[in-house]
Amino acid sequence: MSGLITEAISARLEVAGAVPRQQDLYSGEGADFYERLVGSDRAEVREMLTLARKADGPILDIAAGGGRLTVPLVRSGREVTAIDLSDDMFSHLRRSLPEDSTVECVVADMRDFSLGRRYGLVLIGATSITLLDSDGRSRLYAAVRRHLAAGGVFAFTVAGGASAQSLAIPRDQEIGVPGPEGEEPYLFAQQMEEDGSARVVNWVRVADITAGAEVTVLTSRLHVLDHQILARELVDTGFAVPAVSPVRTDSGVEILLLTTSWAGSPAAGDDDASE
Ligand SMILES: C[S@@+](CC[C@H](N)C(=O)[O-])C[C@H]1O[C@@H](n2cnc3c(N)ncnc32)[C@H](O)[C@@H]1O
Repeated sequence: MSGLITEAISARLEVAGAVPRQQDLYSGEGADFYERLVGSDRAEVREMLTLARKADGPILDIAAGGGRLTVPLVRSGREVTAIDLSDDMFSHLRRSLPEDSTVECVVADMRDFSLGRRYGLVLIGATSITLLDSDGRSRLYAAVRRHLAAGGVFAFTVAGGASAQSLAIPRDQEIGVPGPEGEEPYLFAQQMEEDGSARVVNWVRVADITAGAEVTVLTSRLHVLDHQILARELVDTGFAVPAVSPVRTDSGVEILLLTTSWAGSPAAGDDDASE
């Protein structure tokens, strides 16, 4: 694998006489593509709204992206802060907000943020926790702890069952992606890194692959994690043993929701006061 370009995509471009141009899946044209791919997916929305109904106070949506979860939460009348590394993703969120509603959109790294307030519910959807390595996750847990109100809930999702297993299998296939003029064929490729701890995914528009072209390859790198590893990390950090429940999806993709709260001493959770 060269950089974040999978062998399957490299080979396909080489045969066509094209060269790859790596582009992050969540910025620039990647952000537009990602919204086309998953923007209308309602998975996790019902579960997050249920958690929100039980939580007091404002909600923090981490790695909120185009607002797939933020917007329904705002529509349900809740005050939401969204953080994400990509302002390009936020431009989709801002466009989807109902008129007269406001969401505080903060461009920040989920491994290190200070918002100066606490939240009754902190959530991370779309299995985005897998974007982080172990060091990144421990920094994330510390930041979440600093932002949780007393009794606040921390909830996030991860792939489960057969869906989790399928993430480790190399894939190379054509997938139709909704576009302004109907479905457009894209090549999707997935490859595990050598040590098996992370996988790289690529998306390429088939129509772009022409001789001599510089072809945009949308890339992301995701860690291979299961709910047991994450549950252990939470407990080691001082969170309660998480409740694990399945998320209902129309697509048959198996997703698990982990829900926990701070179980350590209040003093430990109070340091740094989020400022
Ligand atoms: C899979 S998308 C999830 C978007 C949205 N929450 C959803 O449910 O569709 C992952 C998001 O994480 C953001 N992201 C990636 N790394 C990040 C980081 N270190 N800190 C904050 N956001 C990050 C990306 O910009 C992207 O918007």
